[in-house]
Amino acid sequence: MWIFGYGSLIWKVDFPYEEKVLGYIQGFERRFYQLSTDHRGTPASPGRVVTLVPSDETSKVYGIAYKIKESNIENVLSHLDYREKGGYERKTVIFYPLEKEQLLEITIYLASHNNHNYAGPADVNDIANQVVRSVGPSGANIDYVCNLANAMRSLFPSVEDNHLFSLEQKVLNLLE
Ligand code: BEZ
Repeated sequence: MWIFGYGSLIWKVDFPYEEKVLGYIQGFERRFYQLSTDHRGTPASPGRVVTLVPSDETSKVYGIAYKIKESNIENVLSHLDYREKGGYERKTVIFYPLEKEQLLEITIYLASHNNHNYAGPADVNDIANQVVRSVGPSGANIDYVCNLANAMRSLFPSVEDNHLFSLEQKVLNLLE
């Protein structure tokens, strides 16, 4: 089984895996449209984390496929189901590795528009303001945004992600 990392799993993995592969899925966009009340914020001051939003077929989300050993699947899924109980559900899609011919079937966790913590689109300045004031049990929301942006730049140097990088810039401007 393969699990797709596109948010915190890009820079920090908290479960055992056998192999990791860089690549992308198609038909989605990575967006800071999900509220986090239990990791990067609190119910009183929710942070913003990424989810996958359906888009046109040509749109790609770059990330990491993690291969889970048969004997670990049950534990890893219950760990992630619990960790992502704030509104994420599992789906299976196709993963396109950067350097291998063979496509993979992969499990994605996405928080759809009808979950209770879905925030949806907002002006990037408003998202940045929300990010800088939110801190949760997993740490500051600022670190989530900056760690993701830094890791994406270093893993996929030629991939432009306007939504992510413009949010990072706004957040950094607010810290000056
Ligand atoms: C993530 O990359 O942020 C993620 C992936 C799978 C489950 C939950 C989060």
